[in-house]
Amino acid sequence: MTHVRPPAERSPRPLPCEGTPARAAPDPAGSGRGAAGLAASIRDDFPILRASFDGTPLVYLDNAATTQKPRAVLEAIVDHYSTANGNIGRGFYTLSHVATDRYEEARASVQRALGAEHPDEVVFTGGTTGAINLLADTFGRRLVGAGDEVAVCGMEHNSNLLPWRRLCEEAGARLVVVPVNDRGRVGLADFTAALGPRTRLAAVAHVSNVLGTVNPVREMISAAHRAGVPVVVDGAQAVPHRPVDVRELGADFYCFSAHKVYGPTGVGVLYGRRDLLAELPPYQVGGGTVKGVAHDRPVSYVPVPARLEAGTPDVAGAVGLAAALRYVGDLGWDAVQEHDAALVQYAVGTLREIPRVRVVGSPEETPSGIVSLVVEGIHPYDVGGHLDRHGVAVRSGVHCASTFLDDLGLLGTVRLSFGVYNTTAELDLVAEALRTVRPGVWTHEHPNTRFL
Ligand code: ALA
Repeated sequence: MTHVRPPAERSPRPLPCEGTPARAAPDPAGSGRGAAGLAASIRDDFPILRASFDGTPLVYLDNAATTQKPRAVLEAIVDHYSTANGNIGRGFYTLSHVATDRYEEARASVQRALGAEHPDEVVFTGGTTGAINLLADTFGRRLVGAGDEVAVCGMEHNSNLLPWRRLCEEAGARLVVVPVNDRGRVGLADFTAALGPRTRLAAVAHVSNVLGTVNPVREMISAAHRAGVPVVVDGAQAVPHRPVDVRELGADFYCFSAHKVYGPTGVGVLYGRRDLLAELPPYQVGGGTVKGVAHDRPVSYVPVPARLEAGTPDVAGAVGLAAALRYVGDLGWDAVQEHDAALVQYAVGTLREIPRVRVVGSPEETPSGIVSLVVEGIHPYDVGGHLDRHGVAVRSGVHCASTFLDDLGLLGTVRLSFGVYNTTAELDLVAEALRTVRPGVWTHEHPNTRFL
């Protein structure tokens, strides 16, 4: 049976929508490597940003859903297919060795980017969702039994909620949901209080995909370890915006997706501490996972990471991810974070001056490339559709986190999410469009509908 925290403790507790008005960042155009300085110097690296639809130029502000790809990544993928494509680890010929080397070099690039101790701590998966499902079905299944508890945060994306919920349902365990505080993040004291004698593991978001708020994951991991609890971190929204060092965090498991950090879709990473990964059984079985198979003998499996990468992996995707991490690393994390902070400050300052627009929470406190807003009296889908007619791509709705939206007491939000190429001029366009938004078909005919 699965339990969640009693309703009284999960009643809607909207975050303050009005904050101290943030001072808008000065327009940094031409100010070197700062906000628009960074964007101006690299925008041309991204071919899709020149797109227009029916003559309306694209303003792409849905980077928390997926980022656009720089030429360096596109070229790395084309180069791989043009010069090195062969199946890996399965051929006694040069091309197969070349492809295998490229794949393992990509693994080593990820290892270095995450500060991991060894390349074998990097498992390539289909994405964050694939990584977390892998953990729930292997690590989780071994660890969690009837009467045990799994702790998750109240802000989790479905991908870091449903695998644990299903595991608890199947095991007869209890899912404990740690509340989000009025700053839009999980408080350390609340997290620690949720860890009891039956807690077998905790799964936490590093950065909320709805509000962009940052959880104190290093402190949460320390607290969990003091209670003997391993932690799975969903880093999908963190890796594009901040340097992540898994050893500095003390992470047991850390997951992210390539496509949110300027890499290709279909590939992601499960980092796992070597001793923990070594204990995992295969997730899927098939080619590449076994030492040998005979009908009359037990199957023996190869060590990790290959044991967890059944079938032909996305080799070109891994190569593309390595190129993406190189690209962001070359921009420099200071420049990326300065850019993020300037855009978030500017967005918050600008949006708070528009009648009926409310910024949810205080994203400027820990800027991480996301600003969520609501327009009073207008359905988020009407707002999203209106922005689309101005060429602006944003996500509107529940962002695969309806349980968090329930706790916030909101039907949904309109989410602006930034990449390294976004500019304050684009935010001015958004503000201009928001001044003219009106209730539409969703507000009038489907006021309570939400599904995305
Ligand atoms: N997880 C992605 C988002 O938040 C798809 O939009």
